[in-house]
Parts: sequence; C-alpha cells; structure tokens
Amino acid sequence: MISFIRKAVRMPNSSVPEPLAGRVALVTGGSRGIGFEAARELGMLGATVVVIGMDPGRVSAAAHSLVAQGIDAVGESADVADASSMDDLAARLGSLASPDILVISAGVMSDKASKTLRTSAEEWDRVLGVNLDGAFHAMRLFVPGMAERRDGRVITVSACLGRFSGPGTSGGLAPYRVSKAALNAMTKNLAAELMHGKRGVLVDAMCPNHCRTDMGGPQAPRSAAEGAETIVWLATRESVNPNGMAVETGLLWEDRQVVPW
Ligand SMILES: NC(=O)c1ccc[n+]([C@@H]2O[C@H](COP(=O)([O-])OP(=O)(O)OC[C@H]3O[C@@H](n4cnc5c(N)ncnc54)[C@H](OP(=O)(O)O)[C@@H]3O)[C@@H](O)[C@H]2O)c1
Repeated sequence: MISFIRKAVRMPNSSVPEPLAGRVALVTGGSRGIGFEAARELGMLGATVVVIGMDPGRVSAAAHSLVAQGIDAVGESADVADASSMDDLAARLGSLASPDILVISAGVMSDKASKTLRTSAEEWDRVLGVNLDGAFHAMRLFVPGMAERRDGRVITVSACLGRFSGPGTSGGLAPYRVSKAALNAMTKNLAAELMHGKRGVLVDAMCPNHCRTDMGGPQAPRSAAEGAETIVWLATRESVNPNGMAVETGLLWEDRQVVPW
C-alpha cells in the first residue's frame, strides 16, 4: 500500500536558515500526533521528511499537510510490526531508505485493563509488535547507511511508563510498559554498538511526557508539538559541544535533560 506525495520544486525562503537542507528525516508514526509534529519541525528546518504510518489515508493527509506548509515530504504506508511490509517499504523508498535522521515514534497503547495476568496473548503481540518489533525493523533497515557514512541521529520515542525509576514499571498496562522498557534497552544497546557517538551516530531515547494526541487524549497537559521538541533537539544537535567534547549519547532524555532509565 503506497501513498506518495512530493513537492516537485522546493522553494526555500532564503531569509530563513535551513540547517537540515539536503538531509533526510524518516519518522515512523509521522502521520499523527508527536511523530507528525517532529516531522513538521524537521521539515521546517529544511529536511526532506518521510512520514510512515499504517493507515494510507492518514499518511496521505499528513504528507499533503506538510507539503502545503512548504516542506519536501513523502508519505508511505507500512505496518512497522511486519518484517516483510517493512522490507517492501525500504525497497520502495530507494535512496530515502538511508536517512540522516530516524525518529521512531510509531506506537500503540495497551488496553486499560492489561495487567500482566489479564493480558491476552493477542494483546501482548499487538503492542510488542508495534512498539518493539517495529522499532527493531526501523533500526535494521534505516540505520546501516548512517553507520556506513559515520553520520546520523536515531531517536526512539519512549515513555515514562517504561522506566525502572520514577513513574515507571509500577504495575498495569503491562504490554505497553514492558515494550517501552525493552525499547529503552534496545536503544542503549544500539548506542553501545555504535560506540556511543564515536562513529558519528548518536542514538538516544526520549520521553515526550503526556501529550494531547489520539493516544494521550484531549486532557493531556502538553501539546504534541511540545512533546516533539526534545526529539527535534536530539535530531539537530552537534556531536561535539562548543568545547570540542563529545556530547553524551545512549541515554534517556526528557525536556533536553538526561533522566534515569
Ligand atoms: N501521547 C502521549 O501522551 C505519549 C506519552 C509518552 C509516550 N508516547 C509515545 O509517543 C509515540 C507517539 O505517540 P502519539 O501520542 O503521537 O500516538 P498517536 O497519535 O496515537 O499516533 C500513533 C502513530 O503511530 C502509527 N502507528 C501505529 N501502529 C502502527 C503500525 N502498525 N505501523 C505503522 N505505524 C503505526 C500511527 O499511524 P496510523 O495513523 O496509520 O494509525 C500514528 O502515526 C508513541 O510511541 C507513544 O508510545 C506518547
């Protein structure tokens, strides 16, 4: 299933700096919510953005909306939980399957009543499939190019509910909490495999906090754009600080601050 929309000619506003011009940002879960806002901000900074979602209509609407805002945007539909769907996606994307920035935001919440002993096998597979397998498929397909080029940014959108500290794994919503705890582990592990930024690829997890999206609900305290702010910051930061020191990576961030896993 494909939805493909692209601006024929990009017309950057020359008075506005575009630090990501020439860069490609791929955002899973970019068709809605926090992922869409991250894609929009990265596009506003000049990146070509590839938004991935499951529903072709929503992907198309998201890409149209980005293009209408002057962003070079491509929308593609795929099931992140399905290995062959993701393989097909990468084949369709061609060179866009080797992005400079990967934001893994696709996610689903588990049923409210999903304490461990009340969770069906189907519910477990559904949530772990999207939140964990989906992140793995995105990493295995879209990060190798960064590793080869020794340049890239990977941001996984985690959740406070996956932490072993603070409001983390304290019971209930078992598939969701465990998927995010595992996502944290996968992020930390990949960061270590890529030598904690020494090979030019920064890999980090972040928690957007409770945001007004379809998942977060209308009463959440933050907007989706506020939730996306740290994603964009992680995606655009330099690998060395102004003192020439390598920046910290392989960590969990919230509001640009490191928080315990
Ligand atoms: N909102 C919050 O308060 C909050 C708090 C902490 C963490 N988070 C995390 O932030 C991330 C984004 O959440 P959100 O609130 O923006 O969620 P959302 O508004 O519900 O959007 C979910 C996104 O994931 C995509 N998606 C779901 N299943 C997919 C699949 N199988 N294949 C491809 N794409 C799929 C959806 O695509 P379709 O449109 O096609 O369904 C949509 O783009 C999630 O990982 C979530 O766990 C959110």
